Amino acid sequence: MFDFSTVHDRRRWSATKWLKYTDRDLIPLWIADMDFPVAPPIQAAVAEHVAHGNFGYMSLPPDLPQLLVEDHRRRYDWTVDPEWIVWLPGLVLGINLAVRACCAPHESAISFSPVYPPFLKAPGIQGRGLLEVPLRAEANLRRQAIDFERLEALLPAPPRGSLAATSAASGEQRAARLLLLCHPHNPTGSVFTRAELDRLAAVCEQHDLLVCSDEVHCDLILDESLQHVPFARIMAERSPRLLARTITLNGPGKTYNIAGLGIAWAIVPDGTLRQRFVAAMQELVPDPCCFAFTAARAAFLDGEPWRQALLAQLRSNRDLVSAALDRMQLPHSHPQATFLTWIDARALAASVGNAATWFAEHGVGLSDGADFGQPGYLRLNFAAPPSLLQEALQRMQQALAAQRPACVGAQPVSA
Ligand SMILES: Cc1ncc(COP(=O)(O)O)c(C=O)c1O
Repeated sequence: MFDFSTVHDRRRWSATKWLKYTDRDLIPLWIADMDFPVAPPIQAAVAEHVAHGNFGYMSLPPDLPQLLVEDHRRRYDWTVDPEWIVWLPGLVLGINLAVRACCAPHESAISFSPVYPPFLKAPGIQGRGLLEVPLRAEANLRRQAIDFERLEALLPAPPRGSLAATSAASGEQRAARLLLLCHPHNPTGSVFTRAELDRLAAVCEQHDLLVCSDEVHCDLILDESLQHVPFARIMAERSPRLLARTITLNGPGKTYNIAGLGIAWAIVPDGTLRQRFVAAMQELVPDPCCFAFTAARAAFLDGEPWRQALLAQLRSNRDLVSAALDRMQLPHSHPQATFLTWIDARALAASVGNAATWFAEHGVGLSDGADFGQPGYLRLNFAAPPSLLQEALQRMQQALAAQRPACVGAQPVSA
């Protein structure tokens, strides 16, 4: 019903993914967008807007906040007040704004690593400290869990001041003030369990941490036994006081493959924190572009059948990748969400040097784990037509077979 098979030429429109390596025949499986065309109802809505021919300033479509509210109630059983929503032209700037709004310069943000690079960079860019807490790999890397011992070892024993005291708090150098949570988690594709999230909420309560939870991958849950629970809802269930410590970032960019349009939102229930967040934006952050509002509206209204079909395709692609990586004897995640597989290539790197560079020389572009805080690892984006993915996996397998013939068979990759 929907086309996830055709390979489209994206170079013509300067797609970042396809322009990184123009000097060689390379299949790019790196930056996190999808090589699938956007859902037909979104294309149609944007085409209608384009045909209208006027691309002047556009205000928020009046029904968009309510569409978001209904969507959150239906999908995540979470009641959002429209007043809490701050519209943004992207999430990365939301991460940076959250760091600026939540931490004083003498304070730090915590990030679990490996993680999407802006989680590691934003604190430094904003002149705040970073406390990195490695995740704990489980079941031969299939999933990664929160390492509470390492987290709590970073946090001081006595609880600290209230939210209102944030900007005045001082004394300890670069003490933890904010938790940056990637939920579900990029690059590992792990979905944190309810028990982990409950315990995390208790830690935030005990140590008076604010939380910025980036949930942009939450509508891409591949494991059918799992459901997304917004971290803010978990905090709210403990107490309204805890809900006030949350910022939730989200947007349709990943799920509906419209990252190039630039639209996202922050849900900031506490008025004081929201004021600080908005104050940090003043005169610096533009509105989302006119087509972004149109596309987001169409995604809320008519995107669901395409999303369901997408999930089926992504599950099949994930399994294809998983089977091929097993044959290559590369330990890897089995993503419960996202379209990203995390690969342990440390053994390979020991003989070939940087594994991302080496695979690029063999015709496959992967993300280098060093950017995510874990050198020797790779991230593979499997949101591509199966024929392209098969060709990329074949290239990887052949390169490895030539490198270590004893270990890797030359069995073909097939769906
Ligand atoms: C967790 C996460 N947050 C944010 C982004 C980027 O969002 P944006 O392009 O809206 O800045 C990505 C992109 O991969 C992501 O994975």
